[in-house]
Amino acid sequence: MRIWFFTGASRGLGAELVRAALKAGDKVAATARNSKNLIDRFGDHPNLLPRRLDVTVGAQARDAIGATVERFGRLDVLVNNAGYGLLGAIEESSAEDVEQLYRTNVFGPLNVTRAALPQFRAQRAGHINNISSLGGYQATAGWGIYCSSKAAVEGISEALARERGRSVSESRSRRGPFSAASSSRAAR
Ligand SMILES: NC(=O)c1ccc[n+]([C@@H]2O[C@H](COP(=O)([O-])OP(=O)(O)OC[C@H]3O[C@@H](n4cnc5c(N)ncnc54)[C@H](OP(=O)(O)O)[C@@H]3O)[C@@H](O)[C@H]2O)c1
Repeated sequence: MRIWFFTGASRGLGAELVRAALKAGDKVAATARNSKNLIDRFGDHPNLLPRRLDVTVGAQARDAIGATVERFGRLDVLVNNAGYGLLGAIEESSAEDVEQLYRTNVFGPLNVTRAALPQFRAQRAGHINNISSLGGYQATAGWGIYCSSKAAVEGISEALARERGRSVSESRSRRGPFSAASSSRAAR
């Protein structure tokens, strides 16, 4: 039985992963900016900890990881899933939109990773899965900012894999376009 921590679990891929983990009998901390969305989606489940987490806020990440360990006793797998796309040519993308995207797609997973690593080291075990994208290593016209954010995730993940030591493992999921049951504000 594993203890999972998912970001961006209120819909899309994150919600599907939560459902699969619960079905497998695992214990799950499911997080999103609005925890009511999580309760509406998954109901009251004994193996589920729904928790508010905006990944752009480091203090919330530390609180959510702490609450998970308090509830389940440990943490086995962190899945950095929260993220979104931005459709637009480089020239058209405003500084504000780019900063906001990087805050979620790049600084967000870094915040949650920073919060989880001390626990993984204390346990001498733990796994981090970063949801990346095919765009992370091959950028396409119109998706340059999004692809660059996933390239940053790739670089961070690659370095982490070399820095982590034996107790923490790392993997990336490089996804092509998909449509989960409920969709998001932009295609990827
Ligand atoms: N869909 C695709 O074709 C595709 C392809 C390749 C890779 N990906 C990657 O796969 C992941 C999931 O994509 P998806 O299509 O399933 O996404 P989605 O349906 O749009 O769901 C995004 C999730 O991220 C959460 N989220 C957004 N901003 C957040 C923030 N600041 N803090 C915490 N949570 C936040 C949303 O929750 P709330 O809004 O409720 O907080 C939601 O649960 C993303 O990293 C995406 O880049 C997607």
